[in-house]
Amino acid sequence: MDITVFLGAPGSGKGTQAKKLAETGNFQHFSTGDMLRAAIHAGSEVGLKAKEFINRGELVPDGVMIELIANALSKLPSSTRAILDGFPRTVPQANALDKSPGTAVTRAIFFEVPNSLLIDRLTGRRICEKCGQPYHVKFLPSSAGEKCERCGGKLIQRPDDNENVVRRRLEVFAEQNDQLLHYYDGSKKLRRINADAAVDKLQSQLLGLLK
Ligand code: AP5
Repeated sequence: MDITVFLGAPGSGKGTQAKKLAETGNFQHFSTGDMLRAAIHAGSEVGLKAKEFINRGELVPDGVMIELIANALSKLPSSTRAILDGFPRTVPQANALDKSPGTAVTRAIFFEVPNSLLIDRLTGRRICEKCGQPYHVKFLPSSAGEKCERCGGKLIQRPDDNENVVRRRLEVFAEQNDQLLHYYDGSKKLRRINADAAVDKLQSQLLGLLK
């Protein structure tokens, strides 16, 4: 399997880019945040465990996350090109991926964005209730107004996108990020992109890195 992990702060644009790459038909997108929100919606055991952590802006425990992603990747054909968006978030998660048979990471791409942009990006984000497509009230509004331009679903604000929780999420990210960058830099798998750029420009750069 060819596995690319997207690293970057909450709001750095990982989900926006991963969804566009998946639309090309050449990549499979795995967002652990989307998986957890689906589990919460379904009322499953994982969802019940995860909800309180997410709503406080904390990380869900490593054991839960490692099992979740291992299950998602376990039955894929070896020709799969997978984009992991939001996993790993800690060095134990990165280690678990590299040590499991067939899931060693090929490359890690770090989305660099100045901190000053992130609060606006996150508090102004709206997502489609049905398909999860992200929009932004100022930067990327839906052409269908309050509805999703792809599926017509209602646009809502994520509960963890309120300013207090956003600030905590950014702190949690800062606590883990240096160690994770060091982990991938050490194995020469780290690439960085300046993610303070237009969505289409970033998409072309990513397609270049993923060739
Ligand atoms: P998750 O859903 O993964 O949230 P996150 O990492 O905090 O990332 P975001 O989805 O907030 O940001 P993004 O980088 O995808 O940005 P987006 O493209 O949407 O995780 C949620 C929670 O689940 C975590 O807090 C944690 O509790 C738990 N969790 C998940 N994975 C876990 C793990 N592995 N271990 C432990 N816990 C885990 O863009 C943001 C906004 O900016 C949007 O409005 C978008 O329209 C706009 N935008 C995007 N690109 C641009 C651009 N180029 N220019 C202008 N605006 C842009």
